Amino acid sequence: MGNYEPRIIAFFCNWCAYSGVDSAGVGRIQYPPNIKIIRAMCSARIDPVFILDSFIKGADGVLIGGCHPGECNYDKGNITTKKRIKFLKKAIESAGIDLRRLRLEWISSSEGDKFARIANEMVEDIKELGPLKGRAGGTGRTGGTRGTRGAKGERKMKKEGEKSWQ
Ligand code: FES
Repeated sequence: MGNYEPRIIAFFCNWCAYSGVDSAGVGRIQYPPNIKIIRAMCSARIDPVFILDSFIKGADGVLIGGCHPGECNYDKGNITTKKRIKFLKKAIESAGIDLRRLRLEWISSSEGDKFARIANEMVEDIKELGPLKGRAGGTGRTGGTRGTRGAKGERKMKKEGEKSWQ
């Protein structure tokens, strides 16, 4: 894939995963610049539509980070997230998207090293897969046009995403 650099969007809960990134920074633990982090108060606040939109609008991968089970600040938010991601994975798989592009991880505020490891693994996995093709507006940085399969896949993903929200 030459010098292809994947774009990964990370949605992290404020109390654990996001603080884990801070602890990586404080500990001077290196992690790849490919990950753009968006903070949410809880992983349960991450609407599946945000994830699908990320793929449609140019992300090659999406990483969700929350508190470990039993440690969610809002009681069972992360359990809800786990269920949603399970449904969403089925939807993206049926749209022809490799499951390595969507990852859910529990990262505590002291696990900066875990965050860095996961970030590195995900970048390597996606480099292997290459850019995500068939998204709205074309195939991304590699050029090409939007195929019929891509448009159908997007509609299917959105429909499934809405179902998983209920
Ligand atoms: S507050 Fe972190 S997952 Fe809910």
